[in-house]
Amino acid sequence: MSQDTLSQFVYELEEWVSDLNDKWQRFKLEQGDELNEELSNYDQNLNKFVEAVRNYQERQEMLSHDIAQELQSEAAYLFHRWNELFKSDHKGKEQSNDHNRFVPIGGHELPPLPYAYDALEPYIDERIMRLHHDKHHQSYVDGLNKAEREMQKARQTGDFDLIKHWEREAAFNGAGHYLHTIFWNIMSPEGGGEPSGELLNAINESFGSYDQFKEHFSEAAKNVEGVGWSILVWSPRSHRLEILQAERHQDLSQWDVIPLLVLDVWEHAYYLQYENDRDAYVDVWWNIVNWDEVESRFNTAREVKWEQY
Ligand SMILES: [Fe+2]
Repeated sequence: MSQDTLSQFVYELEEWVSDLNDKWQRFKLEQGDELNEELSNYDQNLNKFVEAVRNYQERQEMLSHDIAQELQSEAAYLFHRWNELFKSDHKGKEQSNDHNRFVPIGGHELPPLPYAYDALEPYIDERIMRLHHDKHHQSYVDGLNKAEREMQKARQTGDFDLIKHWEREAAFNGAGHYLHTIFWNIMSPEGGGEPSGELLNAINESFGSYDQFKEHFSEAAKNVEGVGWSILVWSPRSHRLEILQAERHQDLSQWDVIPLLVLDVWEHAYYLQYENDRDAYVDVWWNIVNWDEVESRFNTAREVKWEQY
């Protein structure tokens, strides 16, 4: 790693930790003077880290690749702890600061299932949900984190020989992670029925009727070549809904769109229960669609307004 790259790294790290520290100091002010043991430990660790980063920024001749890696993992740990502390004890405050949060490089986490593993039975059984969520989704999270760290390493060392590989890994695992995160939430044990309100109007306008939409979406799912997804998207560009297929996770995307309703037709999503009868799985899956979540995604997505072409 060149000295220039190291300088740039510590400069960016100092900006990052100053920002985190500002938020922390604001939080401390709101708390008053008494911090519990957990919070005062965090306070000490953060202070030490701020000092260390500023020290290395002033005495850059002491920087090395190993020190940069140590600083990076300490930063990841502090950020991870920050999220944990705020998720457990200070939910309200965390939400009011939501716009300031971001996932650090290599810091993606597996989101919990929003219901029990057996909650979608009989349509999707517990064995599938455990394997699908705990093993498959976790592997996308791990793969994305690895790809992000490797690309960071490439930026720091200037060695981009494997960049094509890691970009592909980031796309494959990133799309896998984000699509599964939507997938768990657009299903619910209380799901099924039909959409209503604005979303139903948009479905009627875009596809003719709900039945035509449902048939189109199901046929798209049944006819994905190999493994992939059927995806209802809002296109901020055309201001219409559209149905797309994704082969694997990332291929065939229009990229400029926001997925609303996604159906996983990888074998791991249905094979244990439906074997090779993907059609049967697709047909009954409609019984667990969480239309409220789809509508909420739709209303948020529609706020994005790009110039129409
Ligand atoms: Fe899947």
